[in-house]
Amino acid sequence: MEMDKYRQSVTELMEHYQLKTSDQKKVWNVIEPIWEHPEFQRRMNSEEFPHHETVSLGEHILSDTIVTYVLSQKKGWDNKTTTTAMNIALFHDLYELPWQNTKIKKSRLVNKHGFTHPLEGAINAATWYPSYFQDDKESEIIIDGVVHHMFPFPVRSFDGTDLELNTKEKIEQIPHYIKGLIITSSTRVQLGPISLCPSKFKQGRIMSKADKVVSFGKDLTSINGLLACVTGHNKNLEDKSYSYQKK
Ligand SMILES: [Fe+2]
Ligand SMILES: [Fe+2]
Repeated sequence: MEMDKYRQSVTELMEHYQLKTSDQKKVWNVIEPIWEHPEFQRRMNSEEFPHHETVSLGEHILSDTIVTYVLSQKKGWDNKTTTTAMNIALFHDLYELPWQNTKIKKSRLVNKHGFTHPLEGAINAATWYPSYFQDDKESEIIIDGVVHHMFPFPVRSFDGTDLELNTKEKIEQIPHYIKGLIITSSTRVQLGPISLCPSKFKQGRIMSKADKVVSFGKDLTSINGLLACVTGHNKNLEDKSYSYQKK
């Protein structure tokens, strides 16, 4: 029942971003196996996991995934590259606990949610979706994209000090090489306890752009308007017949 309601909201999001029916099918095929996991379903509930205002964490993640798809198509990327970028979007904010109005106190500023949640996302993705981390290169691209999705905001370096992660007990349970990838990514261009650099890979960089488009583009109502945030060019403004209807 809840799943039907949430499934409907995915369709509505794809319509909001003006995806054609054929594109909706392609996007859903990538989303579905990750979306149906119980931990993802929990994050579709805006009361349990509000992310921005009243938007649920799940809806935010799905919006990022759809915009990542649109941006990848504009680049003319093949299916594999596009799918990897979308998987990064589906995993990027799978942090452990809701971050607003939290009672959890952190002893250091750099251990707060903004700096550490990409690391929790990477750890939870590897814990809940092990089949996505079978190939070494693919794993490296996904982990690096998740770890650096907040750029130009820094990420906490996995440097051996206490990071006060909410996923602490899971770290030793994920495969050793995944932990190694998280350490390598989060200590690149290290400035004391933080790392400040974009993803090494284009799939991660495009997802990071999509995250900004979604997070800062609330008032924009069309995909061309959203794309303008990245390209600086809005086709709608050239079309005199375009009506600026709010969805
Ligand atoms: Fe994030
Ligand atoms: Fe995000």
